[in-house]
Amino acid sequence: LLFARATNGLGKDWRERRWAAECDGEKELDLPLTRGDVLNDWNPSMPDTTSSFQSVFSLIPPTARAERAAMPDNWQVGTAPGLLPTQRRLAQIVEMIHVASLLHDDVIDRSALRRGVPSAPAAFGNKLSVLGGDFLLGRASTALSRLGDLEVVELIASVIANLVEGEILQMKEVYTPELGLVATPTASGEAWSVYLKKTYLKTASLMAKGCRASVILGGCAQGEVWKEVAYAFGRNFGLAFQLVDDVLDYEAGEATLGKPGGADLQLGLATGPALYAWEEHPEMGPLIQRKFEKEGDVELARDLVRRSSGVARTRELARAHSEKARELLQLLPDSDAKVSLELMTERVITRTW
Ligand code: FPP
Ligand code: MG
Ligand code: MG
Repeated sequence: LLFARATNGLGKDWRERRWAAECDGEKELDLPLTRGDVLNDWNPSMPDTTSSFQSVFSLIPPTARAERAAMPDNWQVGTAPGLLPTQRRLAQIVEMIHVASLLHDDVIDRSALRRGVPSAPAAFGNKLSVLGGDFLLGRASTALSRLGDLEVVELIASVIANLVEGEILQMKEVYTPELGLVATPTASGEAWSVYLKKTYLKTASLMAKGCRASVILGGCAQGEVWKEVAYAFGRNFGLAFQLVDDVLDYEAGEATLGKPGGADLQLGLATGPALYAWEEHPEMGPLIQRKFEKEGDVELARDLVRRSSGVARTRELARAHSEKARELLQLLPDSDAKVSLELMTERVITRTW
């Protein structure tokens, strides 16, 4: 919703026509259907290193910069274009998909607690949790089709596939013998690339494509460029969010998190802190490879993480992504929504639950 509010004014004329179409029953606008790499995921044009990240900025043509520079400083303040009904509905759809994924996740992770109360599987059992998630997805799909925008339908439908891909990647993860993982920097590098890909698929994809879809619905001049900015913002924000989530799993307990702490090692998952610890303590390698299955593995791994800079370095990586997200926001015109988004890029790092 905030991203929609922060970008709605970028194409005022287009948006006003859209508003009329949505609210006054005019014939729906004929929207161009564009497909890009973004649908093929783990978008190779969005690499992670800071230097190549500059390429996002080079995507912004000078005309768009000029357009933004020409806007008065107080542009949008007090005249912020409202949310379109389709954008509000999009936010609801994104939330429904998110909740559906958590209903399924708590079954897969056998988690008893969610948001401080018994999880759906603990309260209603696995069968109803799976069916409840499926039902939400069904309702979300209907609502999605009613947005009447094929590009958005395709984008958000691809998120559902991404969530499942991320979950399967996490299950199989890199730690299979055929990848020949041993405790060398190269092997751990390979593990990092799979870990980040999984992190994008299971978490950042929903945020990246949700933001992108809000811009598509809002419509704007230089539309393709702003879509890329929206996508890159959500992607970096989402990566930061999940990296911090993985840190909190080591740092905080049930009382703070409202869900079980220390769950990842128990589930056999090596997240950022363990992968960094592996670089400093080679003995972590075999533990990761056998998914902490042997008696005492979980405790040993936790101790190795504690004696490493794994948690601090994962936080640093999260910070780098949140800063990229904040940098992207500087391309947007000033507005109250932009200020809120900036605060969120800070909050995503400092949050304790
Ligand atoms: C939470 O991660 C889970 C996800 C971000 C995605 C889960 C996706 C699925 C189960 C695939 C099915 C998807 C749909 C749309 C039905 P986590 O377990 O690391 O975090 P947690 O500690 O909050 O449980
Ligand atoms: Mg999970
Ligand atoms: Mg879980």
